[in-house]
Amino acid sequence: MQTILITGGAGFIGSHLTRLFVTKYPHYRIVNVDSLTYAGNLANLKDIESAPNYTFVKADITDMNAMQQLFQQFHFTGVLHCAAESHVDRSITDPLSFVKTNVLGTATLLQVAKEAWKTDFNGKLFYHISTDEVYGSLGDTGFFHEHTSYDPRSPYSASKASSDHFVRAYYHTFDLPVKISNCSNNYGPYHFPEKLIPLSINNIINNRPLPVYGKGENIRDWLFVEDHVNAIDLIYHNGKIGETYNIGGHNEWTNINLIKELCRQMDAKLNRPAGSSLQLITFVKDRAGHDQRYAIDATKLKNELGWIPSLQFEEGLAKTIDWYLNNSNWLNEVVTGHYQEYYDKQYH
Ligand code: NAD
Ligand code: DAU
Repeated sequence: MQTILITGGAGFIGSHLTRLFVTKYPHYRIVNVDSLTYAGNLANLKDIESAPNYTFVKADITDMNAMQQLFQQFHFTGVLHCAAESHVDRSITDPLSFVKTNVLGTATLLQVAKEAWKTDFNGKLFYHISTDEVYGSLGDTGFFHEHTSYDPRSPYSASKASSDHFVRAYYHTFDLPVKISNCSNNYGPYHFPEKLIPLSINNIINNRPLPVYGKGENIRDWLFVEDHVNAIDLIYHNGKIGETYNIGGHNEWTNINLIKELCRQMDAKLNRPAGSSLQLITFVKDRAGHDQRYAIDATKLKNELGWIPSLQFEEGLAKTIDWYLNNSNWLNEVVTGHYQEYYDKQYH
């Protein structure tokens, strides 16, 4: 019997991870702790909220007392640590909130887990979910490997890099059983529309400008979110303690080509004349310190655990667009109020 703490389970990736573990492992008890920031949304978990093996607790991971009480109450055997401030643009306007949650929050959880588990680390696991952005920015060639030196360049990636270092420090110094995975850009249902793909989908639906930073030539490696959480599941159960695994889509797109593909698919789905959404593309001021290219080499994960992405990008994108078109209530609810304020400040 495992009792697993998932942090940030009400966010984008966390909700897919929570759904997977709750449904695939009915004999595990899953506790989702989330402070419900602007990015946390319990509607993401509506379908599993009454599952007998699922519990939600609203708490902040930087609150040491609250985390200690949770460990005392539930006797966790594992932690899947997903909670974070995750948007690069917000890290440029408010870096310290990233230091607080991503660095202090991770260190708090590590310390609480170490103390709670210190009599016996056997059968325990602290799994830290991280990003490829810690490796910095690539030129035209090459890939990020597990041994690529860290070179974070935004406050977001610096805070994630710092949290990765703390996780490894607890492994080396205290023998805390840990695993880390560093993943490329995710997309799919429940993605908050501050990120490129859901923001563009929402704007195409509403015939609003599609803001493209700089010349749109930056490259990202996109992975369908369910492929990411399936990889996490594999690594959690079969990966080696103390190891890092890169997870990636083998799927590089320039932002401008990705947006053109979105426009093409959405014009067809919305019965608009082909090419009409392309008119919405608007080049805007570049992101400060904008990383040029990310690309993951996920050979280790393939060779050791047999993981490969299941979906072709065009297919994943079509599934994602369909989800947003069929879930307009979800979308309309998250783009009101604070989102509108954020949007106006960021883009005007
Ligand atoms: P998200 O912003 O959608 O969700 C983050 C969740 O964490 C939210 O539910 C939020 O309420 C919660 N949270 C934030 N601060 C908290 C705090 N102090 N205490 C408790 N809960 C808190 O993020 P996401 O895109 O789902 O990313 C999840 C994780 O995966 C992050 O660690 C991120 O760095 C990593 N990651 C994301 C991507 C991606 O493309 N989105 C890729 C690789 C890695
Ligand atoms: O690589 C993994 C990372 O991917 C995760 O760690 C982050 O949490 C996640 O947010 C994502 O970071 P990016 O900065 O790559 O994602 P975003 O969707 O913000 O931007 C993707 C690209 O699109 C990037 O080159 C910036 C560009 N962009 C983004 C927005 C929001 C635009 O051109 N216009 C926009 O309005």
